[in-house]
Amino acid sequence: MAGNNGRYAPMQRYAQIIGWGKALPDRIVTNHDLEKIVDTSDEWIRTRTGIQQRRIAVDPNETTATLATRAARAALEVADVPASKLDLIICSTSSPEHLFPSTGSLVQDALGATSAGAFDLSAACSGFVYGLSLGKGMIATGQADNVMVIGSETLSRIVDWSDRDTCVLFGDGAGAVLLQASPVPGGVLSAVLGSDGSGGDLLIVPAGGSRQPATLETVASGQHFAKMDGRAVFRFATRIMAEATRQALEKANLSIDDVDLIIPHQANERIIQSSMKKLGLPPEKIFMNLQYYGNTSTASIPIALTEAIEQNRLKPNDNLVMVGFGAGLTWAATAIKWATPGVREAPRWRSGQRSAEYGLARMRSRFLQFSRKVEGSLITEEGEAWSAVLSKRITAWRQSQVETQEEE
Ligand code: COA
Repeated sequence: MAGNNGRYAPMQRYAQIIGWGKALPDRIVTNHDLEKIVDTSDEWIRTRTGIQQRRIAVDPNETTATLATRAARAALEVADVPASKLDLIICSTSSPEHLFPSTGSLVQDALGATSAGAFDLSAACSGFVYGLSLGKGMIATGQADNVMVIGSETLSRIVDWSDRDTCVLFGDGAGAVLLQASPVPGGVLSAVLGSDGSGGDLLIVPAGGSRQPATLETVASGQHFAKMDGRAVFRFATRIMAEATRQALEKANLSIDDVDLIIPHQANERIIQSSMKKLGLPPEKIFMNLQYYGNTSTASIPIALTEAIEQNRLKPNDNLVMVGFGAGLTWAATAIKWATPGVREAPRWRSGQRSAEYGLARMRSRFLQFSRKVEGSLITEEGEAWSAVLSKRITAWRQSQVETQEEE
């Protein structure tokens, strides 16, 4: 890890968001499409959730890691920072590529971020804000200069497409931000992280972990799909979003009136409206795009942030709040003093250079895999080098040839 190599951290290091990006599958699935597979209606979904359509990763090669990689590359592009400068990659997800290795490590490899540590963060839909908080801590304490925080999901792979209670709600996608150490005051000012595990059963994928390992029965009874008590989650969400926002603002010495924009977790329009009403925030200060993407879990906030920036909803010195809730139960809120001007134009040749670097990263990865195989095949199970074994075998064969010739 880069940081400052064990020297004392400078007095004030702020964590500024200097890059952002999103990645969404191409395939749009509308509410009308869902009417054909479950007993639902466009009207029901719109009025209960606000969702009109979602993106679904129908291509099996499009996964949580590939979406995360695309979003992270977009964030590096905006920041004009090479992947080699990353110190840490935090990948928040509830639909990881595997139980292990971490999706973060796969992203690290795909980016060619050879100086970065990487891991997955499991805090469901609150995970991205958890990641920002960790990233800020690493930067403030001088342990890292550049931290990539990613939220990525392919929830469509763990949703029961015959269960109308859940399948209409979720979508796939990824978002990422690059946090960088800066002497400029601002950036991530505060974070509030919360958990109440007593509500773990309200939103759960019951099987596939150590509690209920995969068996024929768990598969047959659909225990690997997400199960949810929608009403209980709704009640929890409307209470906690307002509370967590107030706490994050208080920690940052800000009041509700100071907020220029709030990006809530994009789960449900009614949850957002009810929470924001409690806070007394007017609609023009609330960012919403769930109508297009549904609930993309931990990816929803960074996707929304990217779109808010693209729509010029943030300018330097604005106070931004991001607040999420989800399975766990978990919640998280952060207050940010925005410092970065809108998208800067990097020289055109830079994008070519970056593509070449990603190509090299792919080659490097394949070479490492290949050399590991070769290395492995050169050592026997007893730990003896194959070259020695081979030379012994050749010697024995030669000897047997000589003996045969002598006998003849
Ligand atoms: N289409 C049509 N009808 C549906 C339906 C669907 N997709 N899903 C449920 N229904 C039915 C129910 O079966 C129920 O029928 P019943 O009255 O005959 O029993 C009826 O609609 C009302 O269900 P109810 O649960 O009261 O609806 P609701 O107003 O609470 O809305 C949710 C349901 C899921 C939209 C809402 O509870 C919610 O958004 N909860 C939070 C979920 C969430 O955000 N989870 C992610 C957290 S990160």
